[in-house]
Amino acid sequence: MKVGILTGGGDCPGLNAVIRAVTRKALDVYGYQVLGILEGWLGLLEKKTVLLTHRDISGILHRGGTILKTSRTNPLQSPKHVRDSFQNLKELDVDALVVIGGEDTLGVAGELFKRGVNVVGVPKTIDNDLYGTDFTFGFDTAVNVATEAIDRLHTTAESHNRVMIVEVMGRHTGWIAVQAGLAGGADVILIPEKPPDLDEVCESIKKRHKKGKDFSIVVVAEGTKLPTLKNENGIYVVRDEEKDAFGHVHLGGIGNVLGREIHQRTGFDTRVTILGYLQRGGSPTAFDRVLATRYGIAAIDLVKEGNFGKMVALRGNKIVAVDLAMATKKIKKVDENLYRIAQVFFG
Ligand code: F6P
Repeated sequence: MKVGILTGGGDCPGLNAVIRAVTRKALDVYGYQVLGILEGWLGLLEKKTVLLTHRDISGILHRGGTILKTSRTNPLQSPKHVRDSFQNLKELDVDALVVIGGEDTLGVAGELFKRGVNVVGVPKTIDNDLYGTDFTFGFDTAVNVATEAIDRLHTTAESHNRVMIVEVMGRHTGWIAVQAGLAGGADVILIPEKPPDLDEVCESIKKRHKKGKDFSIVVVAEGTKLPTLKNENGIYVVRDEEKDAFGHVHLGGIGNVLGREIHQRTGFDTRVTILGYLQRGGSPTAFDRVLATRYGIAAIDLVKEGNFGKMVALRGNKIVAVDLAMATKKIKKVDENLYRIAQVFFG
């Protein structure tokens, strides 16, 4: 039995922990071969692979990034690439594929399954926006990075009587913003799920300052849409006009626009910090290492059982198998109750 494994989409802390767990159990317990497919779906199209050994997976548990490298290649974009994917899986003698990715990469995995490939998915993303699972691995690390940043910004904001805007990632959901904002004691949290009213935001900051607080921390998720006079649904703030292979815009920069608005409307000294890729790099937290390891073991067990077309998922504290098609059909938005808890501390 030869099991292929690949990591696709944006990297995230914990990828190596999954690769290690899948490979260790495959080699030691099931006696399978494990073929690392490099650079996500691109490696399958170009047949860039490496047979994984104990040496390859030794010492990687705590390392961020992915030893297999990654890409945002979408093989479903052209019929030729779909044909090549099938042909190459055959030529490489891959019997089953463990795919570690977010909604895009796992969406491709789901399509390949429908067309006969034996796939198992593992949910990865710092955004925590995958519908089929309570938590993706990588999210906890990103939240911890953002929380530490908010803690640090607190002390400098306080010393200078400033409004500090912190822009975090999360694409079209506000999970990182809400969780890190709650943990860091943010005074305002803006997320895509709750389109902001800038008058209300500024009023609440002014009120807070009238009550005797001289500084404020505003956390904003990169995918929050800014209201405009022309477009009442709001607009995304993007880094550039290019889209990736899955049709996503490159979000980023809303913090700067918001900072200017808040300064103009309140007169308070305002500064902006965009955390960006710091949230994706570096070592995974202990929580993410354990979750990623549990996911990896569950994924190779599903391969052993021949239970394909599934994604391993966390429900409560249990690892379960859910249908890949269900897990990727829509994104998981921020829990309203969690946001309501955060709102208690606004202003
Ligand atoms: O999905 C993870 C993520 O980091 C998002 O939070 C962010 O919008 C996006 O990836 C950035 O993508 P890229 O690596 O293509 O710049």
